[in-house]
Amino acid sequence: MKRHQVREVMAISPVIPVVVTPTAEAGVEIARALLAGGIGVIEVTLRTAAGLDAIRAIGEHVPDICVGAGTVWTAAEAQNASDAGAAFIVSPGISDAVGDRCAELDLAYLPGAQTVSEIAHHRRRGLDAVKLFPASVVGGPKAIKAYASVFPDLQFCPTGGVSSDNAPDYLALDCIPCVGGSWLVDKTAVAEGNWQAITDQASAAAKLG
Ligand code: 3PG
Repeated sequence: MKRHQVREVMAISPVIPVVVTPTAEAGVEIARALLAGGIGVIEVTLRTAAGLDAIRAIGEHVPDICVGAGTVWTAAEAQNASDAGAAFIVSPGISDAVGDRCAELDLAYLPGAQTVSEIAHHRRRGLDAVKLFPASVVGGPKAIKAYASVFPDLQFCPTGGVSSDNAPDYLALDCIPCVGGSWLVDKTAVAEGNWQAITDQASAAAKLG
């Protein structure tokens, strides 16, 4: 999948599934299941040792899904994710080293922010979208509406505590083209190889837009 600007990534599907995969093989099955349900994007976190291999394997076996790397904190991790074929990089908070490396690599970057000052930091650095994390702790759609009033040129991807129940409340805001969340990829479903359960969640999520 070719490299994207971050707003292009955010426009692919109403939900960016946040995935923690135990193995590269499971990552491929998860990506297939999400795509079968109509979700065209996947954020594979680097929280497990399998993360990088999963990104590489997904790029090879499920080329129609846009695969990115999440929980990226260092420039080296961003570089490794890029080398593995990640089309975008996500950080849960501020890491300017990651932002700088993504700029060098011309790689889409979605950095995290929780406060007005953190959002302002990213904006000063020229970014036009942020991951609002953890969205439920920050105050949900109401808080993001207030944030958006002082950052009318930014887009937000709320993540953390977002579910199929409350996602529509976030997506109703103009500044929110997509939300992020782990609910599509249930741990038990992955452990049992129940890929259909993931496709079912993805089908429902794809309709949220
Ligand atoms: C993330 O890294 O974005 C979060 O772990 C996802 O949060 P959730 O599990 O509440 O969806």
